[in-house]
Amino acid sequence: MTGEQLVARVRGLAAAGERVVVGIAGCPGAGKSTLAGWLAGHLTAAGLPAVWVPMDGFHLADVELERLGRRGRKGAIDTFDAHGYLALLRRARAETGNVVYAPSFDREIEQPIAGAIPIPPDARVVVSEGNYLLAAAEPWRQVRAAMTEVWYADLDDRVRLDRLVKRHVQFGKAPAEAVRWVAEVDEPNAVAIRATRDRADLLVDVDALPLTPSDSY
Ligand SMILES: Nc1ncnc2c1ncn2[C@@H]1O[C@H](COP(=O)(O)OP(=O)(O)OP(=O)(O)O)[C@@H](O)[C@H]1O
Ligand SMILES: [Mg+2]
Repeated sequence: MTGEQLVARVRGLAAAGERVVVGIAGCPGAGKSTLAGWLAGHLTAAGLPAVWVPMDGFHLADVELERLGRRGRKGAIDTFDAHGYLALLRRARAETGNVVYAPSFDREIEQPIAGAIPIPPDARVVVSEGNYLLAAAEPWRQVRAAMTEVWYADLDDRVRLDRLVKRHVQFGKAPAEAVRWVAEVDEPNAVAIRATRDRADLLVDVDALPLTPSDSY
C-alpha cells in the first residue's frame, strides 16, 4: 500500500459520516507512532481533520507501577490502564459536541500526561496506535471492537531492533542497558504482539512509506 492508498482507505471509512477510529498495532519500535503521526498529518492536509492518540498515554504512572511491583517491566500488557483507554476510545467515537482530551506519553520523563491531546468537535478521524490493540485478553477485544479498523505495522526485525536500541540510548539508557532492556523487556512483549498479527485488517509495510522519523518519540 502506498501512502495515497492508505489515505484513500481512511477516506472511504469516513464516508458514512461517523467519526472513524483507525488503530495501528505492531511490535516495539516497528514505527507505529511515526506512521500514526504521518497519517494524521496527511489526512488533515487532505481535508479530513485527524488526531493522533497514542495508547502509550495510558501507561500507568511510575507511582502505581511501584505499588504493583511492575515497574521493572514497564511496557508489558499489564502496565497499562486498558479500561481507561477503552473508555477514551468510546468517548472519542461518540462525543462530537465537545473537546475530548486524551493523555500523551512523554518519553523524557517516561510518564503519561493527562489532558495533553485535544480531539476537537470537528475531528473526523482518530488515529490510535500501540502494542496491544489486537490482544486476545479482555478488555483488549473490546478495544479492538471500539475501532473501525486495526492495521499492523510490519518492519524487518533487524532494522526494528537496531532502531529500538538507538532510541533507548537517545532517551538516556547506557548502550549495554539498552541492549539488555530490548532483549529482556521489549522482545518478550514483541513475541506476544507478533502472535496477534493475523487479526489485523491490513498489514502495512512501514519501510515502503516515505516516513520522516521524529526525535521526540
Ligand atoms: N523511516 C525511519 N528511518 C529511521 N528511523 C526511523 C524511521 N521510522 C521510525 N524511526 C525511528 O525508529 C524508532 C521507532 O519508531 P516509532 O517510535 O515510530 O515506533 P513505535 O512502534 O511507535 O515504537 P514503540 O512501540 O516503542 O512506541 C524511533 O526512534 C523512530 O524515530
Ligand atoms: Mg510509539
